[in-house]
Amino acid sequence: MSKPSHHIFVCGSFRPTGAAGVCHKKESVSILQHLTLEVQDRGLDHIMVSSTGCMNVCDSGPVMVVYPENTWYRQATVATAEAILDSLEEGKDLPPPTLFA
Ligand code: FES
Repeated sequence: MSKPSHHIFVCGSFRPTGAAGVCHKKESVSILQHLTLEVQDRGLDHIMVSSTGCMNVCDSGPVMVVYPENTWYRQATVATAEAILDSLEEGKDLPPPTLFA
């Protein structure tokens, strides 16, 4: 794999105690699974997708962030993920941030 141009992080709520956090309870795993499959289906091998531990903005969950833009999204959905991938695939600006905007 070559160095990714973009890295999409989806909060997986992982905590040292093993307790499930807000993002996990709000189905962030569905977003992660969708992104992972969609990146493969679209052949976007320059985009990496990873899950994270709790990002400490639980009230905004599910949370996603895209680097290198450092663009954050609150209450993310599969539709949010689709919009991000569409933008990256088409070489357009990312959808506007909905967290830390
Ligand atoms: S569980 Fe996602 S930000 Fe805390």
